[in-house]
Amino acid sequence: MALQDKDRIFTNVYGFQPWNLAAARTRGDWDNTKALMERGQDAIIEEIKASGLRGRGGAGFPTGMKWSFMPKESKDGRPSFLVINADESEPGSCKDREIIRHDPHKLIEGALIAGYAMRARAAYIYIRGEYIREAETLFAAVQEAYDAGLIGKNASGSGYDFDVFVHRGAGAYICGEETAMIESLEGKKGQPRLKPPFPAGAGLYGCPTTVNNVESIAVAPTILRRGASWFSSFGRENNKGTKLFQISGHVNRPCVVEEEMSIPFSELIEKHCGGIRGGKDNLLAVIPGGSSVPLVPAAEIWDAPMDFDGLRALGSGLGTAAVIVMDKSTDIVRAISRLSYFYKHESCGQCTPCREGTGWMWRVMERLRTGDADVEEIDMLFNVTKQVEGHTICALGDAAAWPIQGLIKHFRPEIERRIAENARPALSEAAE
Ligand SMILES: Cc1cc2nc3c(=O)[nH]c(=O)nc-3n(C[C@H](O)[C@H](O)[C@H](O)COP(=O)(O)O)c2cc1C
Ligand code: SF4
Repeated sequence: MALQDKDRIFTNVYGFQPWNLAAARTRGDWDNTKALMERGQDAIIEEIKASGLRGRGGAGFPTGMKWSFMPKESKDGRPSFLVINADESEPGSCKDREIIRHDPHKLIEGALIAGYAMRARAAYIYIRGEYIREAETLFAAVQEAYDAGLIGKNASGSGYDFDVFVHRGAGAYICGEETAMIESLEGKKGQPRLKPPFPAGAGLYGCPTTVNNVESIAVAPTILRRGASWFSSFGRENNKGTKLFQISGHVNRPCVVEEEMSIPFSELIEKHCGGIRGGKDNLLAVIPGGSSVPLVPAAEIWDAPMDFDGLRALGSGLGTAAVIVMDKSTDIVRAISRLSYFYKHESCGQCTPCREGTGWMWRVMERLRTGDADVEEIDMLFNVTKQVEGHTICALGDAAAWPIQGLIKHFRPEIERRIAENARPALSEAAE
């Protein structure tokens, strides 16, 4: 059964109502936030843990547990910080944008609650540079919250002081990686840090820091209001809650929709997207979690539960739940090659396997696209992706490797066909 309207967290995701504070209040935001905070910091963290919420930024780390890593008291006077990741640069991902432009107060209230629970002094919302109008809305919403006394000194009358800063990025995908984001916030070039130390020990300005995705933070107040058991009543074990899915590509009606976690792919597509363009039999493959995860062929994805474990079992992942649908008109080798170009372009260049490997992989992908290659190069490319995967400072190296691995695993005959066709002598030559 699909998610009912009464169970939707994001009731203004399509912007039918205004985003502003007055309208947000009618939707239940900022409703006695002080009472939520009065439950106490540890109780809030326990409730989020019990809800089963896992990070919505791609990796799926349990959110309550992440918050619990933050120090309960500062022994050396260092403050703690919450950083909210609104960089959303993964091709296919477009959910945080809808939250920010249509429901920003959910995020700001979430920032206060999460920040308070982890004893943070302030939240920094890092928003991607291209989100110009969204940033304007966010700045205005933060100002509204300050003017109404909801954040700032004695936030919401709780006695707790909490600031929210909005920081605009300059348009680099790598700044979505949590430690690159911290570097960028500090005014440096956005390059990932080696871990350890982890941000909870030494993050922004060397202080304890937690980085969370926009959606992870924006759902927190509703979880507290409606209870962990309500949230965990959706989805399968270990894959709980509601989730914003973003379906793009060859469906009749691409959309962003909040649904129950673990909804079967077929139901998601038929119910919300008007089906596959040209019908079910016209489906070729799906990238289910944003461009970083391996593709899944049509036959395997159709009945699959759309959640962390279900997609991992298919050798892919839920990622950000950005579902990219490709029908049979797609040049699948070209599509993956284009993604390889993206990763080559976005590599920060710090580590050799990624800096050299992404360019190398893209160049080979381009030759496979046209068939100007030897069949042995398919395995060589696969082996190189394995040399990049897991051998870099951040997961961008993995993200560049996985789509190619998925292509070779599922579409090797198509690649071989191109090579064979390219090698075949032209008719005029054969006649000579
Ligand atoms: C190259 C790269 C880009 C990333 N981009 C984003 C992003 O745009 N938004 C995001 O929330 N997480 C992104 N992440 C994941 C973050 O590093 C981090 O895991 C996430 O913000 C944690 O939030 P969560 O626990 O709420 O999911 C990216 C990771 C990598 C390696
Ligand atoms: S894996 Fe790539 S993007 Fe990540 S730190 Fe290394 S060079 Fe930079």
